[in-house]
Amino acid sequence: MGKLDIVRAGHPILRGVAQAIEPDELGSKPLSQLVRNMVEAMRRAPGVGLAAPQIGVAKRVIVLEDAERLMANLTPEQRAEKGRVPFALRTIVNPTLELVGEPDAVFFEGCLSVPGFSALVPRAKEVIVRGTDEKGNPVEWQASGWPARILQHEVDHLQGTLYIDRMLSRTFGVNDEVGSRWSSLSIAEVREKLRA
Ligand code: CO
Repeated sequence: MGKLDIVRAGHPILRGVAQAIEPDELGSKPLSQLVRNMVEAMRRAPGVGLAAPQIGVAKRVIVLEDAERLMANLTPEQRAEKGRVPFALRTIVNPTLELVGEPDAVFFEGCLSVPGFSALVPRAKEVIVRGTDEKGNPVEWQASGWPARILQHEVDHLQGTLYIDRMLSRTFGVNDEVGSRWSSLSIAEVREKLRA
């Protein structure tokens, strides 16, 4: 497996608990190389977030980034509903997550490690993430909407949890089918039709 290859569901590393980055690793060359590899793999996919176990490294590091071109297929209404906004690259080492409110935001979500599928997943609308960057500078980010969803998804990866563990399983589908049949309906309509 190459350093940038994304591990897919079925590989045990996706079900393990990732190890904390030790203080002496902060600012080190291996850690900055790991982050570079993660960013490159995420952008190449392309995706909006990646956790180190997804490139085969069982460490507590996540990267996330969203760009205008990745949301070009969404209407302004869909962007507003999801709280999807472009944001610059963030790297968070040893992230801890505080959920603000209940997981009552329900949208379709996918994962680079479960390619080709998506499902509705309930998530908290807002979170506070704390950790450091790869040099050890403190990071605290209160995020809402899509960035909050990405953070919940990526921090889950560090605990060996995939979105399929949290999804409304009756809504699980192949992306082509989900895109053509469900993306024009409201989430309430999708849930009613799928009895989810
Ligand atoms: Co994922």
